[in-house]
Amino acid sequence: MRISLLSSIFLVCFGSLHLAYGQNIDPECACNLGNLWLDVVVVIDNSQGMGHDGLNEVAADIATVFAQSNITQALGQTTRVGIVTYGQSAVTKYNLTAFHDTNTFINTIFDVANKPTTDTASYIYMGLSAAQTVLHDGRVNGKRDNVRQAIIVYASDYKSQGQDRDPVQLAQQIKEDGIGIITVGFDQFGGEGVLAGLAKLATPGMAFTNKDTDLVGEIQRNGLCQINCFCPTAWTQYTSQFGLASARRFALCLKLGDIDAMWTAAKIACQHLDNSAYLISEFDEAKHNFTYPQRFLILTMEPRLDGALEIAIPYPNDMLVN
Ligand SMILES: *[C@@H]1O[C@H](CO)[C@@H](O)[C@H](O)[C@H]1NC(C)=O
Ligand SMILES: *[C@@H]1O[C@H](CO)[C@@H](O)[C@H](O)[C@H]1NC(C)=O
Ligand SMILES: *[C@@H]1O[C@H](CO)[C@@H](O)[C@H](O)[C@H]1NC(C)=O
Repeated sequence: MRISLLSSIFLVCFGSLHLAYGQNIDPECACNLGNLWLDVVVVIDNSQGMGHDGLNEVAADIATVFAQSNITQALGQTTRVGIVTYGQSAVTKYNLTAFHDTNTFINTIFDVANKPTTDTASYIYMGLSAAQTVLHDGRVNGKRDNVRQAIIVYASDYKSQGQDRDPVQLAQQIKEDGIGIITVGFDQFGGEGVLAGLAKLATPGMAFTNKDTDLVGEIQRNGLCQINCFCPTAWTQYTSQFGLASARRFALCLKLGDIDAMWTAAKIACQHLDNSAYLISEFDEAKHNFTYPQRFLILTMEPRLDGALEIAIPYPNDMLVN
């Protein structure tokens, strides 16, 4: 579903605040799995800790997560998936160019899961590092370099291998490159300690466990669909709380700009719109808090639910005058 910027930049006219609060109809990030526009590496711990049953469950989970995705090498809002396994060391089983259809991927994932290793050690650093390479190699010559990237790691353990191979540092670096990390703690014997370790690696809000009642839904909605919902460079995404990494994302992008010039232009534009002028876009106080101090120009990424044009720009003085 990638939110396309469309050709339209809607300006948002802010009107009086007291009218605005109440119903929130800001556009949610759509979660249309058939349109996911991602490159994903699935990283599976196939050490003894995961065991046969664990691996089967992992495979079933992955198959369900991707069942509705359009896995292909065709261009468009499509998904490519690679597979890495790890224990003591990591193996790249399939790179991003391997799969041309969703069914083949799903059959393959059960094959891969059917082969546990005899490794007793489970070094997540090795798995993450191999996944990073797969994502990097999948982009040679600028191929799909505007597609968001994600790693989903199914881990039975969390062990650091010392400073040179510190998973937290590696995960940090991966996330700084704009790659989302989803972790799933599976059949872990270390319990809470393992989950706490994995949470340090995950993108905020994307650490799950196989005990979650709706694991597939969480990976899809709170993981892949959130990663898939993003703003272009230089735009700030509107979220439920400014500056909070785990905040819920909306399909709305904001930009700082030359407020005076934009405001004048927007005001004129608003005056000329006929069924006009939708003067309000601050549906609630949270949105006011988010936009007001930043003086953002607002770009909606999708047409609003009610079909209306969002209009104008928050301009602190005028907001209170209207
Ligand atoms: C997958 O995406 C390709 C390229 O956009 C498209 O041609 C194809 O119809 C899609 N397949 C499905 C099942 O949606
Ligand atoms: C992916 O794997 C195939 C087959 O092993 C290989 O030919 C190809 O070069 C690899 N692609 C990348 C980008 O590493
Ligand atoms: C908005 O900001 C005010 C003042 O900082 C705060 O008291 C209020 O709780 C915030 N409202 C929301 C919904 O975040």
